Amino acid sequence: MPENFLELKQISKNFGGVKALDQVNLALKKGEIHCLAGENGSGKSTLIKIMSGFYKSDSGTITINGKTKENLSVIESIHMGIQVIYQDFSIFPNLTVMENISLNYELFNRKKLVNWKKIREIAKESLAHIGISIPLDEMVENLSVADKQLVAIARSILYNAKLIIMDEPTSALTRSEVEKLFSVIRQLKSEGITILFVSHKLDEVFEIADYFTVLRNGKVIVTDNASNINNESFIYHMTGRQIKEEYFSTGDTDKSRSLFKVENFSLTNAFEDVNFEIFPGEILGITGLLGSGRTELAKALFGLYKASGKVYVDGVPVRIDSPLDAIKHGIAYLPEDRLTEGLFLRQPVMDNLAISAIDSFVEKWGKINLVRLEKNINSWINKLAIKINKTGDPVSTLSGGNQQKAVLGKWLEIKPKVLILNGPTVGVDVGSKFDIHVLLRDLAAEKKMAIILISDDMAEVLKNCNRILIIDKGRIVNEQINTSLDEEQLTALVINRREKK
Ligand SMILES: Nc1ncnc2c1ncn2[C@@H]1O[C@H](COP(=O)(O)OP(=O)(O)OP(=O)(O)O)[C@@H](O)[C@H]1O
Ligand SMILES: [Mg+2]
Repeated sequence: MPENFLELKQISKNFGGVKALDQVNLALKKGEIHCLAGENGSGKSTLIKIMSGFYKSDSGTITINGKTKENLSVIESIHMGIQVIYQDFSIFPNLTVMENISLNYELFNRKKLVNWKKIREIAKESLAHIGISIPLDEMVENLSVADKQLVAIARSILYNAKLIIMDEPTSALTRSEVEKLFSVIRQLKSEGITILFVSHKLDEVFEIADYFTVLRNGKVIVTDNASNINNESFIYHMTGRQIKEEYFSTGDTDKSRSLFKVENFSLTNAFEDVNFEIFPGEILGITGLLGSGRTELAKALFGLYKASGKVYVDGVPVRIDSPLDAIKHGIAYLPEDRLTEGLFLRQPVMDNLAISAIDSFVEKWGKINLVRLEKNINSWINKLAIKINKTGDPVSTLSGGNQQKAVLGKWLEIKPKVLILNGPTVGVDVGSKFDIHVLLRDLAAEKKMAIILISDDMAEVLKNCNRILIIDKGRIVNEQINTSLDEEQLTALVINRREKK
């Protein structure tokens, strides 16, 4: 019996002029947890899609359990025990938990008649197998992201999976959900199942991975035992540079001018009596648990919900009843969920970046100054290091992290007075994350823009915000100014309140 479940040799894949994968060699041992890391656009998702048979490689071979092939079909890949859990989990929101788990499986086994009793039993067993209880009759659309993911895992083990691949499984999970997922992963490992997962969170890699592989520009930079690396060397492998993030310091803030002010801001069943003010040079952080009201607050400030209270932009009272009002008053919002809220996926990169700012490029006779527009767009592409082939390519061809950066570029282009960012670096690699933080600090230092950073990444909030509000059950419960708290202390402040009640 071969020691490796899967081996890739000299795999290359091009998209037009882009070398997404360049002679990649990779070996996955049976029963190991292997982390695949690399900057945005380095080729991770493409590599996964080759293992699942979704893409054909241009050259190279795949060996699974000793059998070598040039290319796999999706069906062959499934039959050989490979299961992929994509970021959207490919589950059906309007079916129940048990239907999602077992229905396909019954069809896969060519059962013509649906045996509901059997479907229920299969679903129950597979959830019990991974030690999870989720109501079988619940509609999947009502589940949390974490539970949706567990449903996808429960489904994958039915196909006698030998290798389960997860593309950024933890990016939308809370810490306790990550722990639950990890315990399921460890159990699968103990049964000899190989796990390959993509993550941008280094501490998670150290916590769970046995092996790791880093890609850069489609090439394998290093593949080794996880015990042989530390934080710095890992970041260096990924980015090719040394990164050390200092704390942001605003110096003295000028309190005579308020860039953005919110008074008695309330929305029934979401948040109540929120008050804050942002002065030039500041970055305001808002953090809280999932469901604390932080996202509703952000959306209401952008006019997506109609809240009561007073809002002032640069000292002037404004009414924000719709996103159009918000944009008119210079308020921009980078949403949490870039795929459904932030972009027109089938439209070109260019149009997506230009869309919010197009008015400012209209000249005499309603003609758009394309030269100036393109120059501006290109400058954002460079500043944010968005990896693209041509500006005319659809946004859907960009890697996940680069799509996220494109949404940010789209808003920066309109030079907003108030920039509200909700989880701006989720799914963004360490190098780009650092670049985005530097960019925000530079913008704050210009003292023209009020920046609100909503995030549950404690390090991100602590390092970049001079003022931090903690929100819980829709109320601001704590304010920290130029805090000397560390990550654990801030986490404790965020979580403990909940437990005391
Ligand atoms: N269908 C496609 N058409 C054209 N180019 C593509 C396509 N899919 C991927 N690419 C390009 O291939 C490169 C690798 O993309 P991939 O999605 O594999 O990156 P990734 O490592 O998963 O990044 P991320 O961390 O941002 O998700 C990128 O330059 C991307 O733009
Ligand atoms: Mg990807």
